[in-house]
Amino acid sequence: MKIAIASDHGGFELKQKLIKYYEKQDLRLVDLGTHSEESCDYPDIAQLMTNYILDKSVDMGILICGTGIGISIAANRNKGIRAAILYNQEVARLAREHNNANIAVFGGRMQSFDEVVKYFDIFRNTSFSKENRHQRRIDELDK
Ligand code: RB5
Repeated sequence: MKIAIASDHGGFELKQKLIKYYEKQDLRLVDLGTHSEESCDYPDIAQLMTNYILDKSVDMGILICGTGIGISIAANRNKGIRAAILYNQEVARLAREHNNANIAVFGGRMQSFDEVVKYFDIFRNTSFSKENRHQRRIDELDK
């Protein structure tokens, strides 16, 4: 599975830690930036990620800004994108099972590294349930 990661400056530190951690687990995350602590705009970062997801260059993504809010609002403006802020283990599972979320979102200034890893590992290892009612609701989103 190919996974991309991107953040604005508010999520830069957490992004760098996650890249290092998953490299050691033999999982190379495709780093779409930003590449320094210098201030940048989360809508640009979200757009970069959504292009990668929509053209199927990667299977799923991780987006991080300071709160997780701005970057998820920006990503979710695109049809076919389902970006979910993960704030507990059950939400991490349900975001995949019920919503078939394709981007996990975190708040770099709000969440600890350990909780983010825990939630993302659940997210990436959970499949969409494919039950009719969930597929129907997802289809309605893109109408
Ligand atoms: C940047 O300072 C901050 O506003 C941004 O990272 C994010 O939290 C916005 O929702």
